[in-house]
Amino acid sequence: VVAVALAGAALAVAGRGAPAASQQAPGVLEMMTKAKAVFEGACGVCHGLERPLSKTFDRAGWVQTVERMHDNGAEVDAAQRELVVAYLLAKNTFEAKCAACHGLDRPLGASKTPEEWGATVQRMADKRPGLLTSTDAAGIAAYLALTRPARQ
Ligand code: HEC
Ligand code: HEC
Repeated sequence: VVAVALAGAALAVAGRGAPAASQQAPGVLEMMTKAKAVFEGACGVCHGLERPLSKTFDRAGWVQTVERMHDNGAEVDAAQRELVVAYLLAKNTFEAKCAACHGLDRPLGASKTPEEWGATVQRMADKRPGLLTSTDAAGIAAYLALTRPARQ
């Protein structure tokens, strides 16, 4: 319950005030880091991770699917289920919103620090006002920071 509240609070903070994405709200990155670890630890036990990674659902669809996985036997408590939903939703939002002008290969071919991803996502959001809520932007920036990190 505490982790759910934290995840909600981090996204709520990120959602306050439009220019938040360029500041890459640290609470969101921290929450997504935990979410990715829970997802990778719990969701590849009975089938491959590509099973969820190949699906596109909205929030209600992911909540329902992850609840069903819990019924199937996945070892994720309520807080962890909320984190898995947040992670998969950020991925799907990225896929839905960032292919509007160019292919996803453009962001997927890049490597950046969290700060740089925050700035890039904000710059892209500014190209088409209304495309992304600041919650969307913060989730996408954190997702890309974790899956396309700066090269060492
Ligand atoms: C204990 C075994 C088990 C674990 C762990 C598990 N799953 Fe599943 N998963 C299943 C089974 C069985 C099915 C096929 C039946 C079904 O859809 O309920 C499935 C199917 C799926 C599907 C396809 C459903 C569809 O609508 O096409 C998705 C997506 C999925 N799992 C996501 C996840 C996620 C996300 C997690 C981590 C929270 C997870 N699974 C963990 C057993 C598991
Ligand atoms: C309204 C159109 C539009 C949308 C929507 C859009 N982009 Fe872009 N993107 C562009 C254009 C135009 C360029 C090339 C010029 C530039 O870099 O500003 C570009 C370039 C890029 C680059 C290469 C340049 C760099 O800074 O690394 C990346 C990465 C990128 N986009 C990521 C994204 C992501 C992530 C999203 C979703 C949040 C997104 N784009 C959504 C128009 C868009």
